[in-house]
Amino acid sequence: MSTKYTELIDKIATENNATKNELIEIITNHENDNYLFDKADELRQKIYGKDVFLRGLIEFTNYCKNNCLYCGIRMGNHNVERYRLTKSEILECCETGYKLGFRTFVLQGGEDLFYTDEMLCDIIKTIKSDYNDCAITLSLGERSFDSFQKLYDAGADRYLLRHETSNPEHYTKLHPQNMSLKTRTDCLLELRRIGFQVGAGFMVGSPYQTTENLAEDLLFLKDFNPHMVGIGPFIPHKDTPYKEYKQGSMRDTLVMVALTRLLIPKTLLPSTTALGTINPQGREMGLKAGANVVMPNLSPTRFRELYSLYDNKICTGDEAAECRVCLEKRVISAGFKIVTNRGDSKV
Ligand code: SAM
Ligand code: FES
Repeated sequence: MSTKYTELIDKIATENNATKNELIEIITNHENDNYLFDKADELRQKIYGKDVFLRGLIEFTNYCKNNCLYCGIRMGNHNVERYRLTKSEILECCETGYKLGFRTFVLQGGEDLFYTDEMLCDIIKTIKSDYNDCAITLSLGERSFDSFQKLYDAGADRYLLRHETSNPEHYTKLHPQNMSLKTRTDCLLELRRIGFQVGAGFMVGSPYQTTENLAEDLLFLKDFNPHMVGIGPFIPHKDTPYKEYKQGSMRDTLVMVALTRLLIPKTLLPSTTALGTINPQGREMGLKAGANVVMPNLSPTRFRELYSLYDNKICTGDEAAECRVCLEKRVISAGFKIVTNRGDSKV
C-alpha cells in the first residue's frame, strides 16, 4: 500500500471533495482499492449504520420510443417480445411486495407513451391510498416538465434518471441524434425543482468511456448532489449496436461506488443487479464498498426475461419472495441488515 494514495483517500473522505486529477489518480492506481472500500464503508456506517434499504422494482413496460445504442429494449430491437402491465397487475406486485416488507415501490419502464399522465397519476394515487406508508419512485425516462409536475402532485416521491455520462461528446456516442445531455440534465434540474428526491448515475465501462469521463461523472454528481445515485457496469446486449463491446469491470464499478460515497456521504446508493450479473458476489462487494440499497425484483416472473437491458441478467426466474430472501441472505452475509421503512435520503 502506498502512503501517498492512502493520504489522498483520507483527504477525500474528510473533505468530501476532490479534483479531477486526484480522482484519476485513485481510479488508475489499483494498489489501494481495499483501503478505499473500507473508508467508504466506514463513512456510510457513520451515517446510515448497518442499515440496507429495500426497493421493490416493478418493470412495468418494455416498450420504448428511444434507441439508446447500449440498451436491449431500444425501439430498434425487433427481437424483443414487448409487454405492458395493467394497473391491476401493478397493484398485485405492490400487494405481494408490501407483504414481503417493501415500503418503496420503483416503477420502471422504457419511454412508453401508451401510459398517459392520467393513467400514471391514477396508478400512483391508488398505490398511495392503499399503502400510505410507502414511497413511490418513478424511473420512466424523459417526460415534459408538465408531466413531471402532475406525477409529483399525484403523490410520487422520487425519480431516477441516470445522466449516463456528463460528457456531451460521449453522450452523443451512446445515444441517437435526437437525444442530448442538455435535455437529460434539464429534466434532472426540473425534477429537483418540483420537489422530487432525485437520482442520477451512469454505467461504468460504457463504449468510448475514458478514465477522464469517469472522473467527470463523479464531479458532476458531486455538483448535482443527488439524493440517490445508480452506478452499474455496462453489459453488452446481443441485439444492440454495442454488442461487441466489452463489459465494464467489477473493480472499476466498485471504485466508482466507493468514491461516490466519499464525495456525497449521505446519498442512497444501490448495489445493482448489473453488479450481481457480472460477478456472483457483486452485490455483496458493492455493499462493502459503500452501497446501502438493494432492489429485489417484484415484476411478475413471466415478464422478467423480456425486460432484458443486457445479456445474462440474473434473477429472471425467481418469484418475488425468493428474490427477497436471497437478497436478505446476501445483505446479512456482507455484515449488514435489511430495514423495512421507506428509507428516505438524508441528503
Ligand atoms: N427509460 C428509463 C430511463 O431511461 O431512465 C428507465 C429504464 S433504463 C433501461 C434504466 C437504466 O438501465 C439506464 O439508465 C441505463 O443506465 C441502464 N442500462 C441500459 N442498458 C444497459 C446495459 N446494456 N448495461 C447496463 N446498464 C444498462
Ligand atoms: Fe429506452 Fe433503454 S432505450 S429504456
